[in-house]
Amino acid sequence: METKADVIVIGAGPAGMMAAISAAKAGAKALLLEKNTRPGRKLMITGKGRCNVTNDCTVQEAIASVVVNPRFLYSAFSAFSPEDTKRFFEEAGVPLKTERGKRVFPQSDKAVDIVDAMQRELKKSGVSLRNETVKSLWIEENTLRGVLTVSGKKLPARCVIIACGGLSYPQTGSTGDGYRLAKQAGHTVTPQKPSLVPIVSKDPDCARMQGLSLRNVGVKVIDQKKQKELYEDFGEMLFTHFGVSGPVILSAGSHIREMEPGRYLLRIDLKPALSEEKLDLRLQRELSEQKNKNFENMLGALLPKKMIPVVIDRSGIPGEEKCNAITRAQRAALLAALKKFEIVLDSFRPIAEAIVTSGGVDVRGLDPASMASKMLPGLYFAGEVIDVDAYTGGFNLQIAFSTGFIAGKAAAQAARANAPDGKSRESAGGLSEAASRKSEPKDDQKQTEKNEAKGRKTMQKNEACEKRAKINVAIDGPAGAGKSSVAKAAAKALGFIYVDTGALYRAVGFFAVSKGIDPKDAEAVPAAIGREKPEISIRFLPDGQHVFLNGEDIEAQIRTPQISMAASDVSAIPAVRAFLFDLQRDLARENDVIMDGRDIGTVVLPEAQVKIFLTASAEERAKRRMLQLREKGDETPFETLLEEIKKRDDQDMNRAIAPLKAAPDAVTIDSSDLSFEAVCERVETLIREKTNAGG
Ligand code: DC
Repeated sequence: METKADVIVIGAGPAGMMAAISAAKAGAKALLLEKNTRPGRKLMITGKGRCNVTNDCTVQEAIASVVVNPRFLYSAFSAFSPEDTKRFFEEAGVPLKTERGKRVFPQSDKAVDIVDAMQRELKKSGVSLRNETVKSLWIEENTLRGVLTVSGKKLPARCVIIACGGLSYPQTGSTGDGYRLAKQAGHTVTPQKPSLVPIVSKDPDCARMQGLSLRNVGVKVIDQKKQKELYEDFGEMLFTHFGVSGPVILSAGSHIREMEPGRYLLRIDLKPALSEEKLDLRLQRELSEQKNKNFENMLGALLPKKMIPVVIDRSGIPGEEKCNAITRAQRAALLAALKKFEIVLDSFRPIAEAIVTSGGVDVRGLDPASMASKMLPGLYFAGEVIDVDAYTGGFNLQIAFSTGFIAGKAAAQAARANAPDGKSRESAGGLSEAASRKSEPKDDQKQTEKNEAKGRKTMQKNEACEKRAKINVAIDGPAGAGKSSVAKAAAKALGFIYVDTGALYRAVGFFAVSKGIDPKDAEAVPAAIGREKPEISIRFLPDGQHVFLNGEDIEAQIRTPQISMAASDVSAIPAVRAFLFDLQRDLARENDVIMDGRDIGTVVLPEAQVKIFLTASAEERAKRRMLQLREKGDETPFETLLEEIKKRDDQDMNRAIAPLKAAPDAVTIDSSDLSFEAVCERVETLIREKTNAGG
């Protein structure tokens, strides 16, 4: 078996290399896996081989340049800003320069200098780089153990960072592996679209001018369907055999969200420095100065050669017309052709030609401060695989560096804080085994010692925190096993708060049903949550927990068979789980809690001090349910109840994400043959023994 890494990073692109460097600098034993034989292949071709590393701007400006999910990047950009990127490369021996639009490049104009510098930093910080293709994450018992390679190796790690890039330029290795791995961990992945990609136009004028590059033109994009101007910019563009490309076109494309043939119009201002009036005066002057010349010859002073025949056609003025014969109306047509040179746009070029892939791992499943997965402890993401993207200008590489930096640092901290004390934090992401530092290079010995001292301090600090940390008890088990009654009684006896997480899923089920959305619809439910932002909260009233939806107490409305099924349905949707994850974690951080549900010991509170799996046979559970209902005068037959219970069990245990199962370190209690009092007694004793709770 391979020695265990603290942090495995998948993908040696800009995000992955930065993540590995950052993890190693934070004291972790980092292993960087790359399926190409050389790292940084796509980096080599960015900025036409010049590598626009960042934009020399403030954090605020960088955020303003992000088109998708800008707010999510606030922490990352603040932790590692464009300024930090510049410092990083200059200190790594690459002098930089800033060009138009604050774009930062290596002075040498060579992307390879950036790649080499990153490789030197990898070496210096002690990262091991290996040529491996990852097949899947290695997950056992809901716990991340490392990765599995296509060659059949098991590479163990405490934490894993997915930095596999997007789908753009597949020849460099970006083939969408990261999305597959993210889905394996239960993440939602939003559809991938090309971003920063050339645009196709059927207008034959594009092909007529192919190869012509225009500098300093004004560009507007108009949505003809909505009669709205979408975008305005100024800069450089290019005509190609298929349509248009170049920096302003790529940026403009980021604003076109519903591309359809003929819908968007590109309006180019060939003379942006002159107002219409001024340009008209200039035309009058040129025409009178060259009055006996042919119109086509006069245009040489105004336009690049390749454009002349096109502008002649568009103005409707015959090329051989004498300048002094041109009428006022003809002059107006020429003016329009120069100030409003229009091209109808039809589609984007394929994603493989996009500089950036838009779409990716849904940010709602990630912690913005660390890029940590909310689904699987120990898992992190960095770079283009995440659903964020920005304009051209160095911002996308900045995203890679910023997210890589914080993911690496956070993963290192998680790995170190949880590593060597032997006290099992296994379920917090496979973090139990002691760190092996044997393979660190000797000349880094001093740094290692320093890191270890730092690590010890962190651990002491953690221990001190742990003394004050709240007591968390996780009770999982199938529907009807008596979790809530037992948990309520134990919470009361010990002075804890009882949190019924099933009620939260019921609230989401209720929300879906009340909006007329099929609770099984894995796209419509998260979309409605995203759109309507329902506020789900719980309050602890004298009679116990009540769930509120948008400020309204819905406790009484969520206990119906219809909502039970809807809750079970929505609970199989990863984005719904992610949506409720923070709420549950926050409650447990701030209170001594007994929390019950299906994934509490395994996913939500893997570090809970006490974990119990409370179960009972399906028949026994159906019988108990029947007795409860009979008391309320409900005569639903036993068979119906048994069937309902079995159906929910099946759904809860067999769903792909966070399925119901006992955490490896949970104590299982089968209540089939025990009285309620006997179960309570066992649960309370267990909690007291493990935590000293209740004195
Ligand atoms: O405990 P309950 O029956 O109120 O839960 C309602 C549904 O929510 C149930 O079908 C399973 C699901 N659930 C879950 O998936 N994870 C939890 N932590 C709690 C409940």
